Amino acid sequence: MRGWMKLRDRLDREGMYERIRDLPDQIGDALRAFPDGAVPEGPFRNAAILGMGGSAIGGEIVRAAAGNAAAVPIQSIRGYAAPGWCGPGTLAVAVSYSGNTEETLSAAAEAADRGAAIAVVSSGGALAEYAERRGFFRVDVPGGFPPRAAIGWLTVAPLLLLEKAGILTGGARSMDGARRALEKLRPGYAGDEGAERCEPARLAESLLGTFPVIYHAAGETEPAAIRWCGQFAENAKTFSHRASFPELNHNEIVGWSRPEELFSLTSLILFRGDGDPPRVREGMEAAVEMIRGRAARFLPVRMSGADALERIFRAVYLGDFVSYYLALAGGVDPTPVERIVALKAKLSGNGGLSRSAGEGGER
Ligand code: F6R
Repeated sequence: MRGWMKLRDRLDREGMYERIRDLPDQIGDALRAFPDGAVPEGPFRNAAILGMGGSAIGGEIVRAAAGNAAAVPIQSIRGYAAPGWCGPGTLAVAVSYSGNTEETLSAAAEAADRGAAIAVVSSGGALAEYAERRGFFRVDVPGGFPPRAAIGWLTVAPLLLLEKAGILTGGARSMDGARRALEKLRPGYAGDEGAERCEPARLAESLLGTFPVIYHAAGETEPAAIRWCGQFAENAKTFSHRASFPELNHNEIVGWSRPEELFSLTSLILFRGDGDPPRVREGMEAAVEMIRGRAARFLPVRMSGADALERIFRAVYLGDFVSYYLALAGGVDPTPVERIVALKAKLSGNGGLSRSAGEGGER
């Protein structure tokens, strides 16, 4: 994408470029800053990671990276209610960057009432006050980020909490491996090696003016696909869709017929992950063979790396940059999320638990 630096100077008024580029440093800071104090004591029967939007993605990543190796079930909860199995023997980690998200406050209070052990991750707000009052374990993260740009902080905190609580192992080591992998990718993705060698800028150019549809295998590629869709929406103000194999081979695949006009606008992005189970991969390739000719563009993306966490973070880093360049190519400032702010303001005026959306770095 020629001339992208000029576009950056004109459009990126709040420094999203640096936020995205510096993710490896953020991960390093978060690993070093994790508090020393005693984490809630187990043994635990299960773990719930509570949060919404940019504060939920870290929990999704931790759940997917732990996969089948976790000692107990780990669930990511996005909503007002704590699930029925939440109670004594549960570690509930409430993550809200602003600390003022009403769904997370409500789910945390419900989990606490039912006897779950609670830990809180936030940059302040009502959640931090609540944790202070109740004496819950707290991980304070620095303020001033748009929540989605604090993904390093918001993944490392629940990961280390679960590791220290004995629910998973090797989290810190693996996260540091991911950090080193991202450092190597940084110059190319950040455009330092020229526009032609910048993979995310090239992908963004292909996507411009199209409807991105991400297909991926269920499992570890899922949080990366969730993140790509979230970042397409929030950074590039672009509507997208995702679905996973093998499930989509049992329904959605048939829908690739109508409306015809839609497919001439569709970019089919296929995540091929090194961790995809072989039989799922076979079904995925067979399905894609059937439909790829209908899409305007077919864009395969490889997810490789030493372990699941590294693979996920490499894909997240790529997707964050793709959404960023797509924002610039589309002529929009990547940072503002006006509809989210307006919705939070409206709901807080209606007696909700949420404080002003302007608090805690949301813009
Ligand atoms: C904004 C963003 C949103 C927020 C979400 C929850 O950058 O990504 O998805 O993360 O509205 O707010 P917090 O993170 O403050 O709990």
